Amino acid sequence: MTSSAIPAVEFRAVSRHFGPPSQPIRAVDQVDLAIAEGSFFAMLGPSGSGKTTCLRLISGFEAPTAGEVRIFGENSGAIPPNRRSVNTVFQDYALFPHMSVRDNVAYGLMVRGVDRRARHARADEMLALVKLDGFGERKPAALSGGQRQRVALARALVNEPRVLLLDEPLGALDLKLREAMQDELKNLQQRLGITFVFVTHDQGEALSMADRVAVFNQGRIVQVGPPAEIYERPATRFVADFVGSSNVLPPERTRALGGPAEWASLRPEAIRLTETGGLRGRVTGARYLGAGTRLTVAAGAPGRPGADEADIAVLVPAGRAVPDVGAEVGLGWDAAALHLMGSE
Ligand SMILES: Nc1ncnc2c1ncn2[C@@H]1O[C@H](COP(=O)(O)OP(=O)(O)OP(=O)(O)O)[C@@H](O)[C@H]1O
Ligand SMILES: [Mg+2]
Repeated sequence: MTSSAIPAVEFRAVSRHFGPPSQPIRAVDQVDLAIAEGSFFAMLGPSGSGKTTCLRLISGFEAPTAGEVRIFGENSGAIPPNRRSVNTVFQDYALFPHMSVRDNVAYGLMVRGVDRRARHARADEMLALVKLDGFGERKPAALSGGQRQRVALARALVNEPRVLLLDEPLGALDLKLREAMQDELKNLQQRLGITFVFVTHDQGEALSMADRVAVFNQGRIVQVGPPAEIYERPATRFVADFVGSSNVLPPERTRALGGPAEWASLRPEAIRLTETGGLRGRVTGARYLGAGTRLTVAAGAPGRPGADEADIAVLVPAGRAVPDVGAEVGLGWDAAALHLMGSE
């Protein structure tokens, strides 16, 4: 990551509302953010939380209702989309079906008046970069989904953007190809040193690829930070719920488990099965996940068996003995594993 004081992209109290002012749809609502140059930034959130609208505000296809979008320190208000040194890879790739792969990739250069030989040479370099050497003559219809995805990437990179916006670029791929492309994209970003802004609703994808993750909910950023911080110290119930599948404990339950009367999260992998744990419960379900088994344990309050039972998820790592459904178990964890958070 390069260390430049001026962020590649900065939002200052940015809102984008749609519809009548009396009943606005707050697609993006009072968002502040700063994306460091050369970093891999992920926007993570459920459907309709404002991610695509944020990308469109950066690319200039959408203008803020309030606030300021700054690109490399400059208020972008007066800069048209084609002068922003920003390019987008769309979810549906948006390739031109009648053009060859090479002409698709060279399109941005053609628009800028680069002559045919030069732009084809450059397109072939980009195709090599995304491991599609020799595919230049084909039409998009003769490619697999993953190959089309690479063409879309090459077509954006040929313009040498300083910021690349990627809107759920891996959504259409199957799991295996998706994971391979995640590694490749991360690798490419590090090699080129371009700022990537990557939109996804897949928390695993955001956590594994990004330097920083912003979690969106209803047009607002509810937490922003490095992946480990988002995962281990969720700021709110929403983040704990959405990022991974943590146990979210209401205040009275946190207190029953020895903490203060506050909302808390407790990760399934932080809980151990014990012979004589303070908290006793009964296994009501087990789901084999390969790398472990996720148990559902109906547990009461300590010292009050059967009272206030609630389901607690427990991850038993592969190789450990897994109790049968119906078995009585004890649960234990380190005090530090109980993470306190806000109630939103
Ligand atoms: N042009 C528009 N007119 C009215 N409402 C809009 C418009 N564009 C977006 N919205 C609304 O703004 C909200 C945010 O939309 P956005 O496309 O940014 O969500 P998203 O996080 O990208 O969702 P997804 O994961 O489904 O792509 C949604 O409620 C959407 O319906
Ligand atoms: Mg979207």
